[in-house]
Amino acid sequence: MTARMQGKVVLVTGGASGIGLATARTLVREGARVTITDRNVAGGEAAAAELGESAEFLVQDVTREDRWIEVIDHITARHGRLDGLVNNAGCGSLRNIEEETLEGWRFVHAVNTESVFLGCKHGVRAMKHTGGGSIVNVSSVAGLVGAPDLPAYCSSKGAVRLLTKSVAMWCAQQKYEIRCNSIHPSFLQTPMVQSMIDIAPDGEKMRRRLERTSPLGRMGQPEDAANMILFLLSDESPFLTGAEFVVDGGATAQ
Ligand code: NAI
Repeated sequence: MTARMQGKVVLVTGGASGIGLATARTLVREGARVTITDRNVAGGEAAAAELGESAEFLVQDVTREDRWIEVIDHITARHGRLDGLVNNAGCGSLRNIEEETLEGWRFVHAVNTESVFLGCKHGVRAMKHTGGGSIVNVSSVAGLVGAPDLPAYCSSKGAVRLLTKSVAMWCAQQKYEIRCNSIHPSFLQTPMVQSMIDIAPDGEKMRRRLERTSPLGRMGQPEDAANMILFLLSDESPFLTGAEFVVDGGATAQ
């Protein structure tokens, strides 16, 4: 069987953990050369060591534009191209509207939304000169429907949904051959979700609540998102752009 990402060069942010790490593993298995970035240096180095010669790790805080420029320029200098970008790095804030602070709100939007703006801006700059590419922005079901205790998170992920569509429309209009789509996972078993369970007053109750979000009665795995991202980055999805794809075990179908 032909590897589905043979010859492609992909950048995955937040690649040290969870969905980003599962995505990097999937892409390497399918023949891609992958740069993972993260602010977690130890985790990123361990991930790159596990992934082998097809992968490298660069430290990156995705909220910094100067670092975005350096990372993208490094990849294009090394490989001569950028075919795929996964804007995955993100963070949560479990505070309702009465508890959330302006500082917390701004932090969540810097990590979850401004970073995706910066990634798309500099990703398009690189991709448009080498025949196009595919950008996948990791939003959330919380970017489609409201959750009472996640106002900053919902807002930041909802913005990613429409930013994605605007980027897709611009690239189509300019005939750049760059596709841009968003994915919307529900609860997947990653360190981010585990930390929500760990800080809850009754962790087991919280776990069961998260499992019941899906009619399947369980959480998904990071590989469930990784497989959707693989499809969107590959040549199997040339007519898909400006679209949103739920990976939620039916949660939003109810
Ligand atoms: P995770 O916490 O396992 O991984 C996130 C990674 O992003 C970490 O390695 C972290 O160090 C990195 N990161 C955070 N801030 C950063 C920054 N400023 N610069 C660079 N790296 C940074 O979390 P998970 O679950 O894998 O989440 C990945 C994405 O998926 C996030 O955008 C999250 O909002 C989204 N998501 C996750 C869901 C889930 O159930 N796990 C559900 C819906 C969306």
